[in-house]
Amino acid sequence: MNKSKKVLLIITGGIAAYKSLEIIRGLKANNIDVTCILTKSGSEFVTPLSIESLSENKVYTDLFNLTDEHEMGHIQLSRQADIILVAPATANIMSKIAYGNTDDLASTVLVATNKPIIVAPAMNVRMWLNNATQRNIQTLRNDGIKFVGPENGEMACGEYGEGRMSEPSEIIKYTNDFINSLDFKPLRDFSALVTSGPTKEMIDPVRFISNESSGKQGYTIAEKLSSLGAYTTLISGPTKLPNPNVDKVVHVSSADEMMLECDKALPVNIAICAAAVADYKVMKQSETKIKKNGSRLDITLEENPDILSRLSKRNDKRPDLVVGFAAETEKLEENSKIKLEKKGCDWILGNNVSNGQVIGKDTNEIHFISKSETENWKQMRKEEVAEKLSHKIVQHLKS
Ligand code: C5P
Repeated sequence: MNKSKKVLLIITGGIAAYKSLEIIRGLKANNIDVTCILTKSGSEFVTPLSIESLSENKVYTDLFNLTDEHEMGHIQLSRQADIILVAPATANIMSKIAYGNTDDLASTVLVATNKPIIVAPAMNVRMWLNNATQRNIQTLRNDGIKFVGPENGEMACGEYGEGRMSEPSEIIKYTNDFINSLDFKPLRDFSALVTSGPTKEMIDPVRFISNESSGKQGYTIAEKLSSLGAYTTLISGPTKLPNPNVDKVVHVSSADEMMLECDKALPVNIAICAAAVADYKVMKQSETKIKKNGSRLDITLEENPDILSRLSKRNDKRPDLVVGFAAETEKLEENSKIKLEKKGCDWILGNNVSNGQVIGKDTNEIHFISKSETENWKQMRKEEVAEKLSHKIVQHLKS
């Protein structure tokens, strides 16, 4: 099944590098073609000869000379594989990816690639827990890089803790499943719009009313739907996030603009309203900066359009499935059910935002509510929420 699939395996310098030989064998046993890059420090642990013998492909080392560049340029090397696997991945290579450093072949290829990257970290527990490493891990995760491991366990240096590279069998399975998922496009014939982030309602040219929202959940949902084949338009309020890998991203500021862009994106099969839209806008925006004059300032607000409600209640071009979010600080289930009814959407994902949970964080705890079912999803990463929701959407649209 994986006959034509290709993995570029980057072996960096950790004691776990010897396990990369087993990874090469395992991937090849799954009919995956493996080409390797061995970093300079990686070559202190395994030899190019053993890698070449097992992979049956040329090994590219940091001694990347003109002949190599002629045969297979570093750009081509970064693109010819379906995915790039870094195993073992040292703290050093993760730091280079996080900062976009390109001082050797492996890092150059990792920065130049347009393919998914999986890393299998391997390092001493203190290095893993180090603040700089943890910051880099976060950057990598935010950039969509996938992690397999590390595990807790005995280290080569005699210490015990998190940082041990996952077993080759685990890495092989993860890589194989990931490669197969690249062909899994059950939403190929569907289209989606996702709203995300806050909206900004200007009071004057420099002041505004807004909501606290990072946009993370909507971005990951848009990316997941797109990866499953749906033609996906993300309509985003102002966030600090880089554009996700989707078909179209439209940046907006106010709720009115968001509403307008949603209308333009119709018809779609799926609409996910994950944006934290400001409920009110300023009735009369001041064109100049409002000055203090020692007295009270009254600002009159009027209601913004409720995008979720409008999409749900449209007579024409109503999406087949409309999903909203309910951020609540109390009576989560009860209030979410009321919202489902009132807004006329098909599903509501309720989340508890009291005590600083959820907003700006990487995890979410969802109460899934439809007309016929209620499910409590355990606390999980926002990517996992996107995954779970997307699979529910696939089931729903296919049934
Ligand atoms: O009414 P409330 O803001 O709590 O509802 C939250 C849900 O409604 C979210 O899905 C949000 O994206 C959507 N919403 C909207 N337009 C608004 C307000 C909320 O689409 N003006």
